[in-house]
Amino acid sequence: MTGQPEYRFDPNTLSTPCFVVDEKLLDANLNILKGVKDRTGCKILLALKCFAMPRVLPRIAGVLDGVCASSPHEARLGYDVFKKEVHTFGAAYSRDDILDLCRTTDHLVFNSFNQYTRFASLVKDTAAALGRSIEFGLRINPEHSEGTVPIYDPCAPGSRLGIKRKDFRPDLLAGITGLHWHNLCEQDADCLERTVRAAEAGFGDFFKKMNYVNFGGGHHITRRGYNLDLLVETILTFQDRWDVQVYLEPGEAVALNAGFLVAQVLDILPGDMDIVIMDASVPAHMPDVIEMPYRPDIAGSGPAGKKAYTCRIGGPSCLAGDVAGEYSFDTPLKVGDRLVFKDMAIYSMVKTNTFNGICLPDINLCREPDGRVETVRTFGYSDFYNRL
Ligand SMILES: Cc1ncc(COP(=O)(O)O)c(C=O)c1O
Repeated sequence: MTGQPEYRFDPNTLSTPCFVVDEKLLDANLNILKGVKDRTGCKILLALKCFAMPRVLPRIAGVLDGVCASSPHEARLGYDVFKKEVHTFGAAYSRDDILDLCRTTDHLVFNSFNQYTRFASLVKDTAAALGRSIEFGLRINPEHSEGTVPIYDPCAPGSRLGIKRKDFRPDLLAGITGLHWHNLCEQDADCLERTVRAAEAGFGDFFKKMNYVNFGGGHHITRRGYNLDLLVETILTFQDRWDVQVYLEPGEAVALNAGFLVAQVLDILPGDMDIVIMDASVPAHMPDVIEMPYRPDIAGSGPAGKKAYTCRIGGPSCLAGDVAGEYSFDTPLKVGDRLVFKDMAIYSMVKTNTFNGICLPDINLCREPDGRVETVRTFGYSDFYNRL
């Protein structure tokens, strides 16, 4: 490793595989998000689908306004632990989902007028009996794509997410207080600016009637080089023009680069290049690497061929594709060496599974102010047994 250390814990002292979330790195992101809130008055929700570690939710709640949930369980986590606003969106709800959500959510966003008209009175009556009141929103589809990967583009042709303008029913808007869209993925503010223009062209007539408009997630706000000024200007102009409260609901931006997955080298096999088998599994512990797909970064490594020693690194499962990628290092890896995968808090911890019976990684927290590492959760056979 050269220059600034890429993490502030000693990976050799940790039992592997394990996640390490660093409070200091989380705080750095929260500070940037606080700046956006302070400059615009917008509200920012944490998208729990991306990062939902209960232990740090109160810390995040110190800055952000609430959570966006995708299911009754996420909504309950928001209600019980985050304890601020809970907004829920589901592509469709069952009656049981609705009854459960009445206990926890403050805002219920529907994906169709069908579901809204079917469930509105049930929600009102159930919430009233519980002494709660729930506001209704609708997800719109601005039919404006900025992404190139269809599975991450809710505005791709044939999308099941959001109501298109041709299906929009202005006659059914009484009782709706917010509109929501989501179409970005790891994108900058210029993509948001173009999306806002498209949404205004299709739905502008209705924004003025709302209390809030939610610009969804996918804003890579905490990435170095992100155009914060353009984001601020886009939000301020929008709030001014339509007299509404703007919400953002990023996931990635909250915990971007704030967590690591530490693995240990178990064996090295001969091949066209050394094949390193580690104790972390790509499909079980970082499935997004295969789903997206992408090559996760390892601290101290370079691309294949860049440094003196190049190898292919994979996990212990039976899947031929349990491979993180090809990497180079200054010196050859040996059995027992630690590998520190970067940017592993987001869409990894929430997606782990026990494929092949492989144990889930421990979860550690690197604490402020001294960097002390605390083990938050360990897993074992019962976690595998109990879910099957
Ligand atoms: C409706 C909605 N909101 C928010 C998010 C969070 O997006 P990100 O983690 O990319 O910021 C997503 C991600 O899929 C989403 O579908």
